[in-house]
Amino acid sequence: MTMHDNGKDNKYDPHFTDSVIAATGRNAHPRLKQIMPALLRHVHDFAREVDLTVEEWMAGVEMINEAGRMSTDKRNETQLVCDILGLESLVDEIASKLILHAKGSINAATPSAVLGPFYRSDAPTLANGSSIISTLARNSTWYIRAMPLLAHISGQVLSASTHKPISDAVLDVWLAGPNGLYEQQDPEQPDMNLRGRFRTDENGRYEMYALRPTAYPIPHDGPAGRLLKLLDRRPYRPAHIHFIITADGHRALTTQVFDCEDKYTTDDAVFATKKELFVKFEEKEGDEKAKWELTYDFLLCEA
Ligand code: BEZ
Ligand code: FE
Repeated sequence: MTMHDNGKDNKYDPHFTDSVIAATGRNAHPRLKQIMPALLRHVHDFAREVDLTVEEWMAGVEMINEAGRMSTDKRNETQLVCDILGLESLVDEIASKLILHAKGSINAATPSAVLGPFYRSDAPTLANGSSIISTLARNSTWYIRAMPLLAHISGQVLSASTHKPISDAVLDVWLAGPNGLYEQQDPEQPDMNLRGRFRTDENGRYEMYALRPTAYPIPHDGPAGRLLKLLDRRPYRPAHIHFIITADGHRALTTQVFDCEDKYTTDDAVFATKKELFVKFEEKEGDEKAKWELTYDFLLCEA
């Protein structure tokens, strides 16, 4: 089917979409002028192709309304609906491919992955070698559950083009607890638990104590969850740790690393896994603060 073909036997007005596109005024926002014709063509073609009913269209409108009503600064349901439709992962891929065309070194750089809705921009800055488990969480039942997952995580931040270490890079890290909840979702965890920012040393090294990650279901008590159910899909994200790495002269990297032994590695509800981001946690001997060891280097593209 071509862009201008209304599909089937042209039973719908063949000029309708063009007339909606033509309604855009000369002074329209330049980027909207560029992208809206494609959006209108795809949305109209979709409606014609499936013979969208009034009830189906209203159900979609109501889903968006409900997602908006549910969204707060702690929960972004509209983003979650986009995530389960693969849109955040696709936009992430487009952004990294655009860099690919601008910069040769992207092939060697660590791939990006979606930010997700649980990032907090004000995590505490911690000294290299310290733990992102809040001291207030120690001795709690939560901590007892977390103990078998204690992990030492370290590595270097390097230039993707020269492989030279990058000092003073900042790693912002966050992950869900062993109950599959981020601290802002979980009254059992102290504020900012399992979040922290680390600065690489003169050799580009970072080091922290954290947890081996746990798979979790994305929030599925709203429209995103209902849609998953209607599509006979599962709501799980494979076990992962989030990172944002920033360094002067380099492109910021938003990414996740995935535990390759997790059972949901091939079943990510938001389609964010990439093979280069799978990591293996090794058993760690002789460290009372960690049962697991992960060594992982991040390679950043120049700005
Ligand atoms: C996350 O990894 O935190 C996430 C990403 C997309 C949707 C839900 C959660
Ligand atoms: Fe996550």
